[in-house]
Amino acid sequence: MKRIGIITSGGDAPGTNACIRTVARRCAYDGVELMGIFDSWDGLLADEVRPITRDDVTGIVATAGTMLRSSRSRLFLHAGDEEKAKVALAKHGIEGLVVVGGNGSQTATLKLAEAGFPAVGVPKTIDNDLAGTELTVGFLTAVEMCTHALDNLRATAESHNRVMVVEVMGRNVGWIAVEASIAGGADMALIPEFPFTLDDVCDKLKLRHEKLGRNYSMIVIAEGANDSEGVLATAGGVTDKLGRPKLGGVGQLLARELETRTGYDARCTTLGYLQRCAAPTAVDRILATRVSDKAYDLLTGGQSGMLAGLRGFEVQAVALKDVVGKEKRVTPEYYRLAQLFG
Ligand code: F6P
Repeated sequence: MKRIGIITSGGDAPGTNACIRTVARRCAYDGVELMGIFDSWDGLLADEVRPITRDDVTGIVATAGTMLRSSRSRLFLHAGDEEKAKVALAKHGIEGLVVVGGNGSQTATLKLAEAGFPAVGVPKTIDNDLAGTELTVGFLTAVEMCTHALDNLRATAESHNRVMVVEVMGRNVGWIAVEASIAGGADMALIPEFPFTLDDVCDKLKLRHEKLGRNYSMIVIAEGANDSEGVLATAGGVTDKLGRPKLGGVGQLLARELETRTGYDARCTTLGYLQRCAAPTAVDRILATRVSDKAYDLLTGGQSGMLAGLRGFEVQAVALKDVVGKEKRVTPEYYRLAQLFG
């Protein structure tokens, strides 16, 4: 291949720029031209495509965000969309594509590959919900940021004898919540994968405050969590560009319910987009470099339709047909750890 392209799509995540830098550096070493596609798939159709050189990626290993910008596109939602993408890619002489993204993005990668256009995936999302890889780029930086927030919020909760509810992202899974809860020593992690009732939560709080004599509690709740009786049902029918429920707000509702049911003073802090824009940790920079280096080899080695996934300690080629449409959900082991040691 003499000219390849790179695109970032879906929610931005720390480490995305390290992915771009890695592919740009490999291209420079091999004399392959790299075309950057700006503003994701809609940008491709609008010809927002230009060469990315080694000079363009100097210093970005340490920066959050994506120099290519990103978005959630409706392209690939309709039959035949992959042909539109292929025409646009060919127009810029792009012979193969590296797609940096999560579940939605890798669905597009697979569709392109199945339509005969060489395409490979780099796993990137703070949610860590992508199957086929133990970790996704951006996840551990988000966990680091949430852990730091929990450490700080503990001081104000303790100073005011309060229950502090901390709402974190993760869409339909609770990986950020359980790992931050373990690392940050929270007292409860409420996640979509494991049911809970508000009575369960209140009973645990009463045990802590009335039996164990604690004057404050820290509860982490994933934005996609809901109690089994549906009291905390949120989103209210608001959807995103892809028609998926817009999440956010469950933490506030939980804090109010807890105040009403227990009489304890409760507040909520929603970490929101702070989880996506911290500078990538070293671990995420290294993960980004490893999986992007592998994706480059897969693409230029003719292995289209593959994801560069972390399996154990090794980065391996994982067939996207075994990844797309699935979600990596929190395991009972992790949930048990969060309940015991959170
Ligand atoms: O997928 C990453 C993510 O941050 C989710 O955790 C969150 O629910 C979603 O993106 C928010 O989407 P948007 O950036 O479109 O508001």
